[in-house]
Amino acid sequence: TERVLTGITTTGTPHLGNYVGAIRPAIAASRAPGVESFFFLADYHALIKCDDPARIERSRLEIAATWLAAGLDTERVTFYRQSDIPEIPELTWLLTCVTSKGQMNRAHAYKAATDANDAAGEEQDAGVTMGLYCYPILMAADILLFNAHRVPVGRDQVQHIEMARDIGQRFNHLFGQGRELFVLPQAEIEESVATLPGLDGRKMSKSYDNTIPLFEGGARGLKDAVARIVTDSRLPGEPKDPEQSHLVTIHDAFADAEQRAAFRADLIAGLGWGDAKQRTVALIEAHVGPMRERYAELTAHPERIEAVLQEGARKARAVATPFLAELRQAVGLRPMV
Ligand code: TYM
Repeated sequence: TERVLTGITTTGTPHLGNYVGAIRPAIAASRAPGVESFFFLADYHALIKCDDPARIERSRLEIAATWLAAGLDTERVTFYRQSDIPEIPELTWLLTCVTSKGQMNRAHAYKAATDANDAAGEEQDAGVTMGLYCYPILMAADILLFNAHRVPVGRDQVQHIEMARDIGQRFNHLFGQGRELFVLPQAEIEESVATLPGLDGRKMSKSYDNTIPLFEGGARGLKDAVARIVTDSRLPGEPKDPEQSHLVTIHDAFADAEQRAAFRADLIAGLGWGDAKQRTVALIEAHVGPMRERYAELTAHPERIEAVLQEGARKARAVATPFLAELRQAVGLRPMV
């Protein structure tokens, strides 16, 4: 069997980028025969960016409900909260001890923070916590603990998965005695949506405040958000360049080949941006509308979600506990008393 694993940080409400970059491909992968899947809510990662407990709680519920509304089958998928698996922080420590500081210096999230400080003339590490600095090691533990082969993610996570490979490889080399203790994971990227643009054309991201929420705000909210997607100033009747429009990229993330071709042809023939946006809304709504109803039902019953996650934690730990015991032994620690 092949293992597929992915997680989402619980710091905000899910947006279209999370859905097309990670949730949709992960659920599709989980349906293939011979695949064992592990999807989780990265609430330890959330603590790095957020010190508001109520927000983390709310986001965890919303993201859990989103996975279930999007069709995650709890019979086939092990679905859990990262913070219910104490083996993850324990493995993080074992990995921390074999990870070079230089490698962490090169991690994108850390570099972005220090570059911003440099540009602002601040002390380089101002505002950088050890959580942010070691973020990729925690993520490596998430992946390596379950020996995931494939990790469906958006492009912004590729470097983290390469780091997980490196760390896993170093650990295998030091402690495997010729055996592969860890499977080395591969990022799985869906090229066409690897970086879904947001309203302003930059990567759709909570930190840029340019997201289109998947469910929040309802059908009306979706329509209003799409209306705010930035386009050029060409008028109806004037030919548009589909390759220069991120509205087209967002449209295409929900369209089949025929709809994509028709949209392009119509834009070139002068379709107005207003009409183009209406078509985009209709397309997304056809996809998201039925899920939104399931989502509303689920968020109204947090106790059902809680039961699902507790069962998921039990299944995940049935894998994690014996494997961590093996890893403790490999590095020379005693079995847990
Ligand atoms: P996070 O929570 O920022 O994003 C969750 C997933 O959504 C993808 N994504 C996008 N894909 C395409 N276009 C976009 N605009 C876009 N925005 C977000 C992300 O690439 C990601 O796949 N560190 C991770 C969470 C994590 C994880 C893991 C992932 C923790 N442990 C282990 C995989 C395996 C993160 O913060 O993702």
